[in-house]
Amino acid sequence: TTNTMKHIYKAGAQPDAPTILLLHGTGGTENDLIGLAEMIAPGAGILGVRGNVSENGMPRFFRRLAEGIFDEEDLIARTAELGSFVDAAALEYGFDRSNVYALGYSNGANIAASLIFHQADVFKGAILHHPMVPLRGLELPDLKGLPVFIGAGENDPIIPRRETEELASLLSGAGADVNTHWERQGHQLTRTEAEAAAAWFKTQA
Ligand code: MLT
Repeated sequence: TTNTMKHIYKAGAQPDAPTILLLHGTGGTENDLIGLAEMIAPGAGILGVRGNVSENGMPRFFRRLAEGIFDEEDLIARTAELGSFVDAAALEYGFDRSNVYALGYSNGANIAASLIFHQADVFKGAILHHPMVPLRGLELPDLKGLPVFIGAGENDPIIPRRETEELASLLSGAGADVNTHWERQGHQLTRTEAEAAAAWFKTQA
């Protein structure tokens, strides 16, 4: 049920507005990306979710063994949990489940990517700020035409450039329409990256 994850929901301005699923970075909350969502998708509905895992008090969406080394069993279980939560939230709040875009940063972008790796129609599109390859060795579902924006840092200390490129090529290899935007501000989500995501989103809706 929708009680299984702490969240905030705000309906869109119009019934046909998309819903943006907000997925924060490590140590964030369900409120972190609201301003970003309002900038990228004005008038959209908002479903902000808090990760159920705590790492020394910092909310996350799945466990990790070390920075960049994921607990894959937990990641797979948490991916399914988040997917079910979004399905249940659509029923409870009455938004269109087929018109949901993911907006994730860092750890939140990683679980969004994991959802896409596991479920063909989980999102209408996705904005992934500083994502990693969530899992390797999976056969991806058919992602034909899925629009994905990736924001990355050439000098991101957590994510080597080749890992961003690997994620982009895994997604596009499964049919997704991937657009990668590069910044030079490390792991940060910068204003210019947010503006690039907003410009990209305008071409989608
Ligand atoms: C992760 O654990 O998902 C990545 O290392 C990014 C982050 O630090 O959250």
